[in-house]
Amino acid sequence: MPADKPFFRSLRARFLFYFLILSALSLLLLGAVFGYFVLRQEHREEVKARGELTEQAQAMAVDLEVMLALGQYDRISQLLRLEGNLVNATGLVVNSAGDIMAPRPLSMSMPLRIDTNLLAQGEIETQETDIGRVGKVFLVAVPLQSGQNPTYYNLIVAKGVRNLAQTSTGEIMRNVLIAAAIALGLSILLALLLSSYVLKPLRNLSHAAWDLAHGNLERRVEVSGQDEITELSRYFNYMAERIQQSSQLQKDFVANVSHEIRTPLTSIEGFSQALMDDMVQDEEDRKRYLNIISEESRRLKRLVSQLLALSRIDAGAWTLRVAPLSLSSYLAEIGEKFQPLADENALSLSIEAASDTPAIETDRDTLEQILQNLLDNAIKFTEAGGEITLSSKPAGDGGAVIEVKDNGRGIPSDELKQIFDRFVRVERSRSQRFGGAGLGLSVCRDLVNLLGGRISVQSEPGRGSIFTIELPAKLPGSSEAQI
Ligand SMILES: Nc1ncnc2c1ncn2[C@@H]1O[C@H](COP(=O)(O)OP(=O)(O)OP(=O)(O)O)[C@@H](O)[C@H]1O
Ligand SMILES: [Mg+2]
Repeated sequence: MPADKPFFRSLRARFLFYFLILSALSLLLLGAVFGYFVLRQEHREEVKARGELTEQAQAMAVDLEVMLALGQYDRISQLLRLEGNLVNATGLVVNSAGDIMAPRPLSMSMPLRIDTNLLAQGEIETQETDIGRVGKVFLVAVPLQSGQNPTYYNLIVAKGVRNLAQTSTGEIMRNVLIAAAIALGLSILLALLLSSYVLKPLRNLSHAAWDLAHGNLERRVEVSGQDEITELSRYFNYMAERIQQSSQLQKDFVANVSHEIRTPLTSIEGFSQALMDDMVQDEEDRKRYLNIISEESRRLKRLVSQLLALSRIDAGAWTLRVAPLSLSSYLAEIGEKFQPLADENALSLSIEAASDTPAIETDRDTLEQILQNLLDNAIKFTEAGGEITLSSKPAGDGGAVIEVKDNGRGIPSDELKQIFDRFVRVERSRSQRFGGAGLGLSVCRDLVNLLGGRISVQSEPGRGSIFTIELPAKLPGSSEAQI
């Protein structure tokens, strides 16, 4: 199992960190906007409350002036208390020296005197001030008209600044802070839960990758949902499938190769041993045995050279030497090379290069290897007296089409699909007679691909086969591609 990461280095920690930053930022933003609106509301309420208090003080002053004029001093205290309670403020009547005249008796929290600076002279005056034990107050001073001296008395109405607005910013903000702290705590919890939920499939994936890397090729992960991690899991399973397939192919390949090598080797060993032990007296038999040994050695050599070709192609080490090639003269050359083998098998070999076959740029040695395999098959799988034709004609795109046609045994249609795969032979016993390993056509297909072309086959059992190669006018990429 892969070791778990230390928490602070894990994706989980990062997830938590980003989540926290995000939550904190949004809470901060929300708090700032909310705070701004609360403060604005408080300010508006204060302005309104000041106006109202000033109006109420004026109204009280009118009543007080009447009482002063009528000498009803006892009712003044009553009125101050009553009206003061109504507006949640303190009303006082003060003389010009600042002494509080009413209400009497004074409450304990009240100073005995009011600073004369706070008194109004001719006009109504408002201000905010600190009064000793009372604290910060909004104060309205209204001069009272009584007798000859109009400013002898003042009505002072004071209200704590904190009581002016109904909205209390401090309290609201405190509650907001508590709510924010709770929200932050909850989001940490949520982030932890979410991160383990989201990262669980990733953890499963890394465990599966570990298992796969340690040889458990059957390991797959569960795929459910539609998200990116599901996609990754699907690709992981696909990759595991491909690895398993390729490992199986490799095993099959090694088994096939060993088998193909062992069969001729067993023959060579057996017959040579018999010859060495002088067990074969008859000269005819001796020749036959030597012939078998030579045949089997050729078969081995051929197998090894096919395997080498495949491994060079697989390793990307097949070198192409691209040059212009006149197909008609080239096919004639190939025909000449194969004529003896065709004659040996009593087959007719004809070359039919259409006069308008274009010259193409390709690698002649690679093409020869391809044609050699195809002609070899055509000769192998056609009975004596048969006909083999090697022909060429122009292709639509400026390239050329080369065909190897025979009227031999043909290939059953259900075998046609895998005929180009490695170690595939139709009727093993038949092929075994000719000593093929089933590699020739797969080498052909790979080489045709290297030349940028395509190979296909048409065949009818009992009537013959046509192998068709389509080659481009130029090799895709560069003209001197090193493959
Ligand atoms: N022209 C053909 N006519 C009939 N059958 C063919 C022809 N060409 C190929 N085949 C069938 O396809 C099989 C695969 O051919 P391929 O050339 O790959 O292998 P091979 O000839 O058996 O062995 P190798 O080429 O490795 O010596 C052959 O075994 C044969 O059964
Ligand atoms: Mg072959």
